[in-house]
Amino acid sequence: MNLEVSKITFRYQKKEPAVLEAFSAVFEKGETVAVLGPNGTGKTTLGKLIMGILQPQEGSIFLEGEDMKSWSLAERGRKIGYVMQNPARQIFSTTVREEIAYGLEAAGMEQETIREKSREYLELMELSGYEEAFPFHLSCGEKQRLVLASVLAMEPDYLLLDEPTSSLDQKRRRQLGDCLERVRNARGCGIILISHDMEFVRKHACRRIFLGGRNPGVGESGGDEYV
Ligand SMILES: Nc1ncnc2c1ncn2[C@@H]1O[C@H](COP(=O)(O)OP(=O)(O)O)[C@@H](O)[C@H]1O
Ligand SMILES: [Mg+2]
Repeated sequence: MNLEVSKITFRYQKKEPAVLEAFSAVFEKGETVAVLGPNGTGKTTLGKLIMGILQPQEGSIFLEGEDMKSWSLAERGRKIGYVMQNPARQIFSTTVREEIAYGLEAAGMEQETIREKSREYLELMELSGYEEAFPFHLSCGEKQRLVLASVLAMEPDYLLLDEPTSSLDQKRRRQLGDCLERVRNARGCGIILISHDMEFVRKHACRRIFLGGRNPGVGESGGDEYV
């Protein structure tokens, strides 16, 4: 059971150098893999390629052995929950209730199930009581938790988080870390963690992949890969 990125090459403009060149990586279910590297090395681009927001010029991305090339964004989104670097951009509904229900409705779930799952995941993200709130009035951290609640409610096989701790204080970081551990242990979710936060990575990642070919000083670990 894995998500395999196989020899992908991607450039934004034809004549520009490739952001990723023949890049390969495997993400297993049940493990948290950190994707590290200095600014501009293509971490966010890799996330967008996995999600199908961008298409590689060469190479393929396989989910459980199946090439996702022809999959729609919605199909990918159901299997891989994506929390963008700026989660506020992912929110489009006018209430918290509608935001979390959207994906569940699109997946064809019954109203009763949608109500139950919404309640469960809003509670998990400490957003109970916010159901009628206008999402744009939420704080940065609350918006991120709303996106996370919406994504987790879909019970995806993988989670892809782009710099998830950048706007969180120490307490919220710890809570996010606990939440990720729970999701991984309880459901065997595979977590792809794009992050600069070395303390968070040290604590929560099983394995690390470095883009840009160098180690930014985190010490040696048997599972490190340099690309
Ligand atoms: N929409 C875009 N158009 C052109 N170049 C881009 C675009 N987005 C990112 N880039 C470039 O691609 C490279 C990788 O960016 P990015 O994936 O955001 O890196 P990271 O997330 O590791 O900081 C950078 O050189 C960046 O300037
Ligand atoms: Mg980035």
